[in-house]
Amino acid sequence: MKVIIQPDTAMASRLAAEMVADQVIGKPTSVLGLATGSTPAELYRLLIEKHRRGLVDFNRITTFNPDEFIGIPHDHPASYHACMRKALFEQLELAERRCHIPDGVARDLMGMIEQYERAIERTGGIDLQILGIGGDGHLAANDPGSSLASRMRLVPITMAKRGYLAKAFGGHENIPRQAVTLGLVNFLETHRCLVLAFGESKADAVARMIEGPVTALVPASVLQQHPDVTVILDEPAASRLQLADYYREAWLGPYLGTRP
Ligand code: PGA
Repeated sequence: MKVIIQPDTAMASRLAAEMVADQVIGKPTSVLGLATGSTPAELYRLLIEKHRRGLVDFNRITTFNPDEFIGIPHDHPASYHACMRKALFEQLELAERRCHIPDGVARDLMGMIEQYERAIERTGGIDLQILGIGGDGHLAANDPGSSLASRMRLVPITMAKRGYLAKAFGGHENIPRQAVTLGLVNFLETHRCLVLAFGESKADAVARMIEGPVTALVPASVLQQHPDVTVILDEPAASRLQLADYYREAWLGPYLGTRP
């Protein structure tokens, strides 16, 4: 993993935006894996700015999101369909057919899962997968306990998550019971991963992802087995890394440095 520590979230997001922009400029038909959550919000805002200023042409990209709630209509404000449309797709003026999100209201969920994985495969695979990491080490909806060999599947929405979802869904009784998510192996199959983590609340998970053992207790630790991962952190998120000095030394410039 290449670990890049930036002084703050704004600088970390700017570096991430440059990396995504370079990917799209270098390959205008890039396939991007997108994450939801608050972590990539500033990155997405910066990409929209690049689009508006005509610096990057996103017209021909294809996107895949990793997860969605089951049984929640696409226009529900808490659905990832609605969130992504609002936060990115509409503002980048992407054609709908280029933006893929798992269909959580599909009648045949197993068929949908099969087709989704096949659709990724048909593109030649995800060129750059953007990921956030949960405070417990989860990746997309792969919670602790997820098999390191997992593929796309239905997963339960556990008690731990129900607390913070209650508000978005207007009460506990409305929280969906399941989500669908790409699995950990799907992320290993991507060509390149860009993991972002900001803030002290992510510091423990970040240290375990990068330096801990590869374990189902920390699903993100599976990324140690991916040959091309860049992790961009702000200082608080990097605060529990034992080898922070080594990463600082190993990274020589805008993600051109040697790779630990
Ligand atoms: P966050 O979520 O970006 O909202 O912190 C990260 C995640 O759950 O993957």
